[in-house]
Amino acid sequence: MSLKRILGVALLVGATAATAVAIAQAPAASSAASSSPAAAPAATTTALPSSLPQSPVALGDAHAMGKLGDAKAGQAKAGACAACHAIDGNSTDAQFPKLASQQERYITRQLEMFKSGERQNPIMQPMAAPLSAQDMRDIGAYFASQKVTAGVADDSVIKTGPNAGKKFYMVGQQLYRGGDPARGIPACMACHGPTGAGNPGPAYPNIGGQHAKYIVERLTAFHGGLVLGKGDWAKPEMAQVARNLTDEEIQALATYVEGLHPAAEDAGKSAPKAAASP
Ligand code: HEC
Ligand code: HEC
Repeated sequence: MSLKRILGVALLVGATAATAVAIAQAPAASSAASSSPAAAPAATTTALPSSLPQSPVALGDAHAMGKLGDAKAGQAKAGACAACHAIDGNSTDAQFPKLASQQERYITRQLEMFKSGERQNPIMQPMAAPLSAQDMRDIGAYFASQKVTAGVADDSVIKTGPNAGKKFYMVGQQLYRGGDPARGIPACMACHGPTGAGNPGPAYPNIGGQHAKYIVERLTAFHGGLVLGKGDWAKPEMAQVARNLTDEEIQALATYVEGLHPAAEDAGKSAPKAAASP
């Protein structure tokens, strides 16, 4: 298979008029969403219920607007996470998700859910159990301050089936940028942004550069109906987004997203790495 690194900003330039509108709308809609939840679905091609928590009950005080995490304190606390996630959050083993560039709120939310059992994983639940809400925010702030490294997307050509003749990652790119309105699949970009950086306000996670293997696992779980969080904190978006994705589309999206990164990061890339893309 051949591999390709994908420039988020290059995509922006090459986007069609329709997708350019979606890009322009995404930040506006999400800032509007912080004050008015009803405005959130406007940025997506399919109407989706607002994910914004109405009251920060389940996640405790630290998750409300109050005390932000302290990245410096978080760095010391993140030592316990380094064995799997690496100290800069760029895990090299694809079993462990990258946490670099991930948003503080998103990390805090996931840790709270591991601790409460709303998100189940036999490795992470005991890791989250001893953490206080402030620990979670500090660790979140620390990983948010680290730069995620981009992976490479699978550039090989699909041989059979409905997408025969297309490059593998391009099937993902099409869905990522434009969705498939006929099948009720919104553009991922509307929430996760053109470079996959997400949105810290509504806690739409950074996904750019994430290991494809982990993304496949998450999308497969969402495809199966997984909704994390209880009550007001439930975020049902991804279960709806992924409901109609095929296995091939999930794989293609995952490889596309793994290769996605902002163009600025490419400037400093070492020559051998750049040579890996055709
Ligand atoms: C022994 C390995 C291991 C250690 C140590 C570990 N983790 Fe994890 N972590 C994992 C695995 C495996 C997953 C994926 C869980 C899943 O698939 O639900 C994960 C997932 C996560 C996620 C969710 C990421 C996402 O994108 O949704 C967060 C946040 C997280 N870990 C934070 C931490 C923090 C903070 C620490 C240190 C206090 C830590 N982890 C220590 C193995 C580990
Ligand atoms: C309406 C907004 C929205 C759209 C559109 C959307 N997502 Fe998401 N996505 C979310 C939210 C919110 C979460 C976090 C869910 C949670 O915390 O429970 C998420 C989580 C994810 C995760 C898990 C990240 C992690 O670190 O575990 C992946 C992967 C993902 N989305 C991929 C996609 C892809 C691919 C698409 C397009 C097919 C897409 N999303 C479209 C809102 C959206």
